Amino acid sequence: MNITPTHIEHIGIAVKDLEKAILTYEQLLGTPCYKREFVEEQKVETAFFKIGESKVELLQGTTDRSVITRYVEKRGEGIHHIAYAVDDIYKAIQEYESAGFRILGKGVSIGADNKLVAFLHPKDCNGVLTELCMENPDC
Ligand code: CO
Repeated sequence: MNITPTHIEHIGIAVKDLEKAILTYEQLLGTPCYKREFVEEQKVETAFFKIGESKVELLQGTTDRSVITRYVEKRGEGIHHIAYAVDDIYKAIQEYESAGFRILGKGVSIGADNKLVAFLHPKDCNGVLTELCMENPDC
């Protein structure tokens, strides 16, 4: 494997009530939410906090069919995914795939925060849904 993520870009936390969760995390992290964004593709409302070079991404599903809504119904609120920053997401998924990791969905898609994102199957990452992300060069 030649891929080494540069850092943990963010930790995604699935929540039931985004407004309440924002207040909690503003207190917990001592910093205001700096960005809110609706991700159409996943029907998810997101809110971001930044501490150092890492972020916390709060996620709330906006429809019953959103993956986040279903996740919270099944497993309750909590850590949903860990996102690693990579320099070249296309090369990264190719290499992970040839090493036996399953890539979810269609591969690379547009995520929140001007990022290109891809997800590795949690079963291949010891139960952790793993996101790879890269700054979107078109933004
Ligand atoms: Co994420």
